[in-house]
Amino acid sequence: MNKTVEIGRGLYYTGIKDYDRRMFDALVSLPEGTSYNSYLIKAEKPALIDTVNPGFEKNWLARISEAVDPQDIQYVVMNHSEPDHAGAIPYFLTFNKRARLVASEQGRRLALRFYGVEESRIIVVKDGDTISLGNRRLRFVSAPMLHWPETMFAYLEDASILFTCDFFGFHTAKGLFDSDFEDIESGAKRYYGEIMLPFSSMGKKAMDKIKNLKIDLICPSHGPVYRNPQRIMTLYNKWVEGRTEEKAVFIYVSMWKNIESMVDRITDKLLANRVKFSRYNFLYSDPSNICADLVDSRAIVFGAPTVLSSMHPLGIYAANLVKMLRPPAKYAVLLSSYGWAESASRHMQDILGKLPLEVIGSKIINGPASEEDLKEVDSLTEKLMLKLKE
Ligand code: FEO
Repeated sequence: MNKTVEIGRGLYYTGIKDYDRRMFDALVSLPEGTSYNSYLIKAEKPALIDTVNPGFEKNWLARISEAVDPQDIQYVVMNHSEPDHAGAIPYFLTFNKRARLVASEQGRRLALRFYGVEESRIIVVKDGDTISLGNRRLRFVSAPMLHWPETMFAYLEDASILFTCDFFGFHTAKGLFDSDFEDIESGAKRYYGEIMLPFSSMGKKAMDKIKNLKIDLICPSHGPVYRNPQRIMTLYNKWVEGRTEEKAVFIYVSMWKNIESMVDRITDKLLANRVKFSRYNFLYSDPSNICADLVDSRAIVFGAPTVLSSMHPLGIYAANLVKMLRPPAKYAVLLSSYGWAESASRHMQDILGKLPLEVIGSKIINGPASEEDLKEVDSLTEKLMLKLKE
């Protein structure tokens, strides 16, 4: 049975579905597994676009063999050098001793360091360069920091197909085309939040570069192939610009429900006023969902107590996660509590103060919140609702 699917004229899907993978980057969960998309372009000089995660080399080679003799392949394009896409390069270049690796200049350095590729086998390309596949041609579009410095896109000119590696990707082992999914946004947003959010300005540059390109098919390196490119490009146009919505994301840690009592007070009021929010008790939350909500939330309400002489370690983790992702949120409310000595608020400022957030108010309580404390929290909530409307 021929399992390698022709997804475009002379273009074959040679990727691997990893149904069982449950974590990525030791950070985000993969409830639907993931895919390592690799593509084979049939031409007089056949080329592969990206490879697969280590451990899947033999299955991947078998897939390629269903469409061409893998010894005939002349080029392996490395759009990105992270091991989930480039990890099978040493295997393939050992198997096929004539094939050459195509990479950006930064990619060349990473290929030497990560994969021990012989320098003489690397062809370096820069923005706008082309490589002839005989009867077809690939053009390269530099896309640095999406999400590593060496990243580039490849464009198959005769078929108007854009290969974008992680950009436009999402983690799922399901389906093949975007038409197999009713909902693209939630998976793509989780992915964007974790991987692309800190580099939104570079994403905007890439979107500007490709906006006038005729694109009939987008082939990312995780998740579905887009026969309807506008479906994902419309979402990305919003996200790369950092457009936020009238909603708040709550991220908090609570030891004795003192922080939680303030969070309850705020979310009750938001609920009554039909203001959107997402609420994460960090102890029980999946960071992937927080990543997704940080993509377009206008305000962050962050709470953590002092434990011993420090902000609670989970609070430190959560605050650093937020800082690392550089979300487009404009406003913050900070909540902390303590028993006998306060230090969480300073740690919070030290970490979150690095972000361009306007702190519209903060509340520190000693032990349980008094009625007076909660009235102050009500005032903070009023301010928050006004700011969310801006
Ligand atoms: Fe999917 Fe950055 O690798």
